[in-house]
Parts: sequence; C-alpha cells; structure tokens
Amino acid sequence: MKKNKISKNWIIKQHRDPYFKKSKAQGYRSRSAFKLIEMNKKFKFLHKKTNLLDLGSFPGGWSQAAREKIFDGKILAIDTKLMEKIERVEFMQGDLLDSKIEIKIFGFFQKKIDVVISDMAANTSGNKNLDSYKTGELCLRAMDLALKILNKDGVFLSKLFMGSVFEEINKNAKKYFKKVVKYKPLSSKKESKEIYIYCKGI
Ligand SMILES: C[S@@+](CC[C@H](N)C(=O)[O-])C[C@H]1O[C@@H](n2cnc3c(N)ncnc32)[C@H](O)[C@@H]1O
Repeated sequence: MKKNKISKNWIIKQHRDPYFKKSKAQGYRSRSAFKLIEMNKKFKFLHKKTNLLDLGSFPGGWSQAAREKIFDGKILAIDTKLMEKIERVEFMQGDLLDSKIEIKIFGFFQKKIDVVISDMAANTSGNKNLDSYKTGELCLRAMDLALKILNKDGVFLSKLFMGSVFEEINKNAKKYFKKVVKYKPLSSKKESKEIYIYCKGI
C-alpha cells in the first residue's frame, strides 16, 4: 500500500475510534488517558497524596489523568520529546536509557515515591518483533528504576508487548514484586499486542 493511502486510512480509523473522539471532547491530549483512568479504576493506585513518576509522558494524556486524582503529591513526567506544560506536573526532557537521568529524578523527589507508570514505547520500525523487543527493554529499564525509587508498598505499571521479551519481564516482575497482574484495558486497541503489567509491593 502507498504511504499516503496508509496515512489516509489511519486518519479515517482515528476518527471512527470512540476513545479518540472522547479524548478530544474531554480535552485529553491522547486517547491513552482512558487506559490510565480505566486501570486506576481497577487497581486504585492514584490518591490525593501520591508521588508519581510518569515515564514516556508525551503528549501528556496520562499526566493529565493522574493530575485529576493527585493534589498534594509531586508528579514528574519524562519523555525524550518536549511535552507542553501541564499545571502541577513537572516535566523533564530526557532519555530513560541515559543513566544520568536517574540522578535528576532522585534529586527531584528527594525520597522514595508511591507510583511509577511507564507508557514508553520504542519508535515503530516496521518490524513488529524488533519493536516489541525494544519496548520490552524500555519496560525492564523502567522496572529497574522503579525497584530503586519505590517505597515498599509502591506500584509499578508499565506497557509492554506480547512477544519474545514478555516472559522475561513477567519472570522478573514476579521475582521482585509481591503482586503481579497482566491487564489489557478495554481502551487498548484489540489489534494491538500491547498489554500492561501492574506490580505492587517490593
Ligand atoms: C505511547 S507514547 C506515551 C503516551 C502518553 N502516556 C500519553 O498518555 O500521552 C510513548 C512515549 O514514549 C516515549 N519514549 C520512548 N523511548 C523513550 C525513552 N528512552 N526515554 C523517554 N521516553 C521515551 C516516546 O517519545 C513517546 O512519547
């Protein structure tokens, strides 16, 4: 299929997507906001005083949704892409794979925190296996950071794709966290291999 035909099909699909329409109507920057809202309804991890780290935050749907629940806690959002300002959300532009970012994150919170959410996804290359592998690496990196920064009842929630690294991630999660649940939100596209892993308690 030609490139402009693919993008035309993509635009038509987007406009038929009820979550896309809902996100526009409710002022969310991405339809992903509904995934976080849905997962928080299920697992109830966002509270008034939650201190939260949002990894892969651009364009900001998750940060917007988190901010609606958090009033007295700190929210730090990180992405390689520049994210536009969201009230009560601190943003740092940076790469999670760069080890120096950790010092900045610890410097910002100055203490252990309650929740790490990661919606990081590698840029699509056209090779689904490679993309799923790279996103898996990002998830493992986020998990490693979460294990250092979370308090003992902390929550780590991350995107990953079903595929080669899935079992390794699941095994690691079960080794380090007390509770591990895999969950596919209704708002996650059915055709996508995306799934989320919810982990609680170190
Ligand atoms: C699916 S989008 C996130 C959507 C966001 N949660 C929202 O609700 O609007 C995935 C993001 O992960 C970011 N990302 C990918 N690799 C990253 C890395 N190494 N460090 C930081 N962010 C990364 C991308 O730039 C992209 O913006």
